[in-house]
Amino acid sequence: MKSIMDRQLSLELARVTELAALEAARWMGKGDKISADDEAVKAMRAMFDTVDIDGTVVIGEGEMDEAPMLYIGEKVGSGKGAKVDIAVDPLEGTNLVAKGQPNSIAVLAVAPEGCLLHAPDMYMDKICVGPEGKGKIDINNSVTENLRALAKAKNCEISDLTVVLLDRPRHKKQIAEVRAAGARCKLITDGDVAPAVAAALTNTGVDMLIGIGGAPEGVLAAAALKCLGGDMQARLMPEDAEQLARCKKMGLEDVKQVLMLDDLVKGNDVIFSATGITDGDSLKGVRYFGGGAETHTLVMRSKTGTIRFISATHFSDKKPVWKDL
Ligand code: FBP
Repeated sequence: MKSIMDRQLSLELARVTELAALEAARWMGKGDKISADDEAVKAMRAMFDTVDIDGTVVIGEGEMDEAPMLYIGEKVGSGKGAKVDIAVDPLEGTNLVAKGQPNSIAVLAVAPEGCLLHAPDMYMDKICVGPEGKGKIDINNSVTENLRALAKAKNCEISDLTVVLLDRPRHKKQIAEVRAAGARCKLITDGDVAPAVAAALTNTGVDMLIGIGGAPEGVLAAAALKCLGGDMQARLMPEDAEQLARCKKMGLEDVKQVLMLDDLVKGNDVIFSATGITDGDSLKGVRYFGGGAETHTLVMRSKTGTIRFISATHFSDKKPVWKDL
């Protein structure tokens, strides 16, 4: 089937995450996650205006009354191109930037209208693996069973695998099980999108991400895993009656239903772009120099399967959108 999304769009979208990262990274280590996020949002919003798409934000900074920009339902792009759904997280890992810690990214995914799960802002249980683990994982199985299946698929021992989990009391049991099974374990303070992506890239030292994190972040991770041929299963974790009602409104009769990769991102025409803000497992962070900066971006399109790392050097005096921010 012919794609409604032009191939040039990938590069245009890489420019969107680049600008968000360029602005957010200025706040590294300054202890101010709000300003870092605000600047990333402003930059991403400004750059979207230069892109020829008729986009609607389906995962963004919150509902219309909660966020001034990139709110759910906001139209972005010039309005001239394809009708697309957009998931954004201009600064994924706000605490990481504020503290100068690794793996914060500016990230987005774009797919034809109706192809991204409109995940509400609530928790989601996730298991993410790379291509070798495709079809081998089951979120209903124990951690040990999933590790055993992945080790077999990767032709290695469980002790060769590294599993990433958010370091939260809610993961106490899973962390103990990973350790008991003999796998290596990386406990992170924030930001579970970057490690989900890393699980599907080679030479990152990450094999699997498990545990409960944000649902919007889950859809972004799913977009990347679709491009990379990896796999993911998830389950929404509503915490109160209101969140439960939101799940039902989305058409999920059984909220405990396992969401497969194709439920999170339908079809095979999604574009994913992420730019490193701080240094991470797969992306370098922003490096400034007098009059400019260097960025490192991963941009992929599921239709072609091309995985593109773009190192870019930006000069502020020659980049009007950046200069004017
Ligand atoms: P920010 O919204 O501050 O960037 O945090 C993002 C994040 O760390 C996600 O990567 C993760 O899925 C979620 O928050 C974890 O939530 P919690 O901190 O409530 O455990």
